[in-house]
Amino acid sequence: MTADLLTRTPEHSPALADAEAILRSVFGYEDFRGEQAHVIEAILSGRDVLAVLPTGGGKSLCYQIPALVKKRFAVVISPLIALMSDQVQALKARGVRAERLDSSQGLEARQAVWDAAKNGELDLLYLAPEALAPFVLDRLVKLQPSLIAIDEAHCISAWGHDFRPEYRALGQLKTLLPDVPTLALTATADAVTRQDIRAALHLDNAVEFVASSDRPNLSLRFVRRKGSAAKAVVELLARQKGASGIVYCGSRDGTEKLAAALTKEGFSAAAYHAGLSASVREERLKAFLSGKTRIVVATIAFGMGINKADVRFVIHADPPSSLEAYWQEVGRAGRDGKPASGVCFYNAGDLGWAIRRLTLREQEGAPDQSVQKQKARDFFQMVLGHDCRTQGVRGYFGEAAGETCGKCDNCLARGKIADVTEPAQMLMSALYRLNGPRGRKKLIDHVLGKAEGQDYTTRMKTFGVAKGYEAGLLTHVLDLCEAHGIIQEELYQERMPIVGLSDGDRLKALFRGDLRFTALSSR
Ligand SMILES: Nc1ncnc2c1ncn2[C@@H]1O[C@H](COP(=O)(O)OP(=O)(O)OP(=O)(O)O)[C@@H](O)[C@H]1O
Ligand SMILES: [Mg+2]
Ligand SMILES: [Zn+2]
Repeated sequence: MTADLLTRTPEHSPALADAEAILRSVFGYEDFRGEQAHVIEAILSGRDVLAVLPTGGGKSLCYQIPALVKKRFAVVISPLIALMSDQVQALKARGVRAERLDSSQGLEARQAVWDAAKNGELDLLYLAPEALAPFVLDRLVKLQPSLIAIDEAHCISAWGHDFRPEYRALGQLKTLLPDVPTLALTATADAVTRQDIRAALHLDNAVEFVASSDRPNLSLRFVRRKGSAAKAVVELLARQKGASGIVYCGSRDGTEKLAAALTKEGFSAAAYHAGLSASVREERLKAFLSGKTRIVVATIAFGMGINKADVRFVIHADPPSSLEAYWQEVGRAGRDGKPASGVCFYNAGDLGWAIRRLTLREQEGAPDQSVQKQKARDFFQMVLGHDCRTQGVRGYFGEAAGETCGKCDNCLARGKIADVTEPAQMLMSALYRLNGPRGRKKLIDHVLGKAEGQDYTTRMKTFGVAKGYEAGLLTHVLDLCEAHGIIQEELYQERMPIVGLSDGDRLKALFRGDLRFTALSSR
């Protein structure tokens, strides 16, 4: 942030007075929230801006208001058609002249939109990134919009959690339209991703605003799943039957099954995923937004930027594979500021699955995914850890730790924190001596001294070495080893998960005692 922006209070700028008037007259809000005024002021003074504001923090107004102040149309790039049509409708209802251009429109309808832009009869033009064909870019160069806003800008970063190749095309905008201020917006970008967004969009001189990622009305909880996801979710929701919420699943099939299970139990639920036709998806989204359907069971295809105020819970039946994705998804709860909850189920095997999917992507020709793999491990370290969840999120996004939240599972947990380096060393030395990957249960049985028959492994030094430890704790410790990259899961005969040693340096650090693990004794 530049010094002049820091020292000058927004109230002193005349352009901001116009912005405030519009905030009240068009949108009906009294005051700007968080960094909104700073972002809008920087845009109005002609700067490029990169703004990281929390989910539900009001990023949309950061471009909608400048467009109205400048009285010249602004271009908004947004990744999802559903998101755009939602915003366009809401804006039209407030008397704002917003339009969307996409391939489903006829030639005439498109021409009418361009004419409106030319004649000064348009305030906001929403475009999907794939719509930036050469002739569209030509027109933009001729018409010189007042602003280019790139919503969900993390989609441009291959290091972010939701990379969309079509976002790469946005890199040419700054070159073609050097004098038009560009505003890149996202809720979730760590320092590396922010740097990547700047480079990809050529925003070298952009002012950066990073608001706290905090969402104080959210209570966060991580629960090891025992048994089926459906059972866990039904049990969890039994006490809040009428509430609106989103349940995330890792697969399309999973969403269908879980939605059916919830419906059978008397919940109002529908599945949502990319395998459904566009019209079914739109219908289900509308039913959810209007409150007709209470629960959407979705893959990550659902939810980005969706503005439903009263979502009371977000449940992850399967965990996401980075903290950024988690924060983006859980951030869809409680946008009205009232208490809301995020419950994330996880299990041994989830991290292995996430890593295998990334490897598959590499095999299909995607660039090296090691950054993403490390993000998945980092996320599971947080999941398995015993620190306040809110502090964990702040730390991840590079903020100071601040106070504990007092209401997450870890803040509420009873039990002491114990050093569990020793059982980790026992498990790892068993795996080392067994000389090849093993199933988790086999390995744990081995260190507990349980064996069905007599074979050579029962005569090994590590057989029964961890007698006296709880099997549950050993499972947790094994997961810690995986999250720290000491072991890695693979599939035996393409279906049986087994774990094998992975990173020798980390293994040595664990044996030396330089790498130590702690866990809550109540685990
Ligand atoms: N200054 C304000 N005062 C009161 N309400 C506001 C203000 N600014 C925005 N809002 C409201 O906050 C809600 C969330 O806004 P918006 O959809 O722009 O969030 P977002 O930052 O884009 O979130 P996401 O990251 O999920 O896309 C909307 O209902 C919006 O009208
Ligand atoms: Mg948004
Ligand atoms: Zn906490």
